[in-house]
Amino acid sequence: MLGLALAACGSGRPRGEDGGAIGQVDAGPPPPRWTPAARADALAAGEAVITKHQCTRCHELDGRPGAGRPYDCVSCHVFLTSLTPTDPRYQKIAANNGQDVLDRYIRNIAHLRQVPSLTAIGRRLRPAWIAEFLQHPLDLRPALDDAMLRNTVTPDDARALARYFAAVADVPADGEPGSALTPAPTPDPDRVARGRAVFEQRGCPACHVVGNERFAGQTAASLAQNPLAPDLRFARARLGPETMVAWIMDPPAVWPAATMPKLGVSRADAELIRDYLAAPVALPPAPPVEPLLAMPPAATHRVSWDEVKERVLGKVCVHCHMNDHEKDVGPGNLGGLGYAGRGLAMRTYEMLVRGARGPDGKRYSVLQRQPGEAWPRILEVMVRRRVENLRDHVTPLADHDRPAYPAGALGMPMGLPTMTDEEIGLLRRWIEDGCPGPTRVTGRPGFTDGFLVPDGPIKPNRGCQLRAPAAKPPRWSTRPLEPAPATPP
Ligand code: HEC
Ligand code: HEC
Ligand code: HEC
Ligand code: HEC
Repeated sequence: MLGLALAACGSGRPRGEDGGAIGQVDAGPPPPRWTPAARADALAAGEAVITKHQCTRCHELDGRPGAGRPYDCVSCHVFLTSLTPTDPRYQKIAANNGQDVLDRYIRNIAHLRQVPSLTAIGRRLRPAWIAEFLQHPLDLRPALDDAMLRNTVTPDDARALARYFAAVADVPADGEPGSALTPAPTPDPDRVARGRAVFEQRGCPACHVVGNERFAGQTAASLAQNPLAPDLRFARARLGPETMVAWIMDPPAVWPAATMPKLGVSRADAELIRDYLAAPVALPPAPPVEPLLAMPPAATHRVSWDEVKERVLGKVCVHCHMNDHEKDVGPGNLGGLGYAGRGLAMRTYEMLVRGARGPDGKRYSVLQRQPGEAWPRILEVMVRRRVENLRDHVTPLADHDRPAYPAGALGMPMGLPTMTDEEIGLLRRWIEDGCPGPTRVTGRPGFTDGFLVPDGPIKPNRGCQLRAPAAKPPRWSTRPLEPAPATPP
């Protein structure tokens, strides 16, 4: 299976086709060739980690088959948002599901559409940097709204992945001679200044930022048009000095998947730019955390379940917290992306009040405060995301030092920009009003639910505490409902 997957990928090309030196991460002694056995080992070990963490749900990776529907976040989003009314596939889906529904999908999908390809990335990125990044990811592309996930990759997993990427690209892996993160040589200030001037003249700032440095020819629009261009303040750690020069001269020769065009930069100019990019970039300190932790005010109007679902939980959260019978588009419910899953579903009221499973396997209400916390858990995690965003989400020219991720529970929505004050305020008000449910569930007037999937109705509405749905699963359910908690409160 591995051999098959690799036969389709760029790494299968005969070496030397695009210049033998390209495979070298750094200038220096030539890398030891991967023996076939060592390579096969590294590929198999890396493949196991890739499978465990489902990296192909988002990334293109060495010609591996994508995760497939309904697992593949990016390909489905790209597919849907690329449909136009003249496309027969658009017409077919519109006929089956309603044109208004399809148009809403296309309008609403904003994230996980553009994600960097990982195919043969060892040709561009140092394995040692990859291993470090996987354990401590941070926003690399300020014009891209999405971030690499905070994940459960262990140091061993990270090493296995770094070796995998090195083996695919046939460059030395972490720990082998010539591959370590060599300290950047102290650049000559005169060359740094000249490199900066060339960088500006050649139009590089149209696509790239370098920390918060200001350049002529850079506009918010030009940056937004090229969201996959990394902040080049990271380039000194990501690329070896020789790779950097080769890249600036001819990106597709270094990395077949390159989208950066060849700009006809001479070697002398490329070396000047490399020296400019080798200089460290000064950044302001991170903003203080306390204001980020303040809970936004509750909405001033009475908020219905419909509104909460439509504007908050159903807008973003449900996509990882689907109901049980919706199979596997639910890393936060049934598990995925390397997480075991916490059994938290949000599509319907009945499933939301079933709560989440703690590390001990016991269920707790996410609509109530947990010991030691100031707010119901679901609000806590949304506010925590704002602190994570100090690492995960900077905007162009507003970068700052990146503090470590806060310890403790993951912020939500995982990997995505934080919800707005207004959205959090809606959920807060709904919880403060006692989590009023839809009429069909509660028997109370005033709330309707336009999209009720009967996972099992709960008759009385008793506020926000933990409740179990009825034991009877819907007809089409692919799995039995969990047994009810022993003593529902
Ligand atoms: C939910 C989607 C998602 C999943 C799953 C995911 N990533 Fe990512 N990854 C991203 C996004 C988005 C970025 C771009 C982040 C940025 O540039 O700031 C990224 C960036 C990266 C980068 C940096 C690449 C570059 O060119 O800068 C590496 C390496 C990476 N991911 C590896 C992995 C690996 C290995 C896995 C599996 C363990 C994985 N990712 C799983 C979304 C994902
Ligand atoms: C089968 C296709 C499909 C797959 C697979 C899929 N999505 Fe979506 N996604 C959609 C559709 C359709 C919408 C818009 C739904 C709506 O507006 O009612 C959407 C919307 C979203 C949104 C809210 C809009 C936005 O862009 O912020 C998020 C977040 C999201 N999906 C995340 C994910 C994640 C994470 C995965 C993988 C774990 C995933 N999706 C897999 C089809 C898919
Ligand atoms: C049209 C947009 C565009 C322009 C102009 C551009 N780049 Fe890029 N550059 C990219 C993209 C996109 C990437 C990410 C890799 C890819 O997709 O090719 C990239 C990657 C890089 C990298 C690798 C960085 C990393 O961290 O992976 C370097 C170095 C780089 N560019 C330098 C330059 C220099 C120097 C110039 C000017 C001579 C320049 N770029 C002009 C779009 C651009
Ligand atoms: C990209 C996928 C994804 C999105 C989007 C997402 N979640 Fe999660 N969520 C997860 C995963 C995975 C877990 C399990 C994390 C773990 O095991 O630590 C989780 C767990 C949770 C938990 C239980 C955590 C705890 O500590 O009690 C809550 C509550 C939660 N999510 C709320 C939300 C809310 C609210 C949103 C929308 C604002 C959201 N999630 C969006 C993936 C996601």
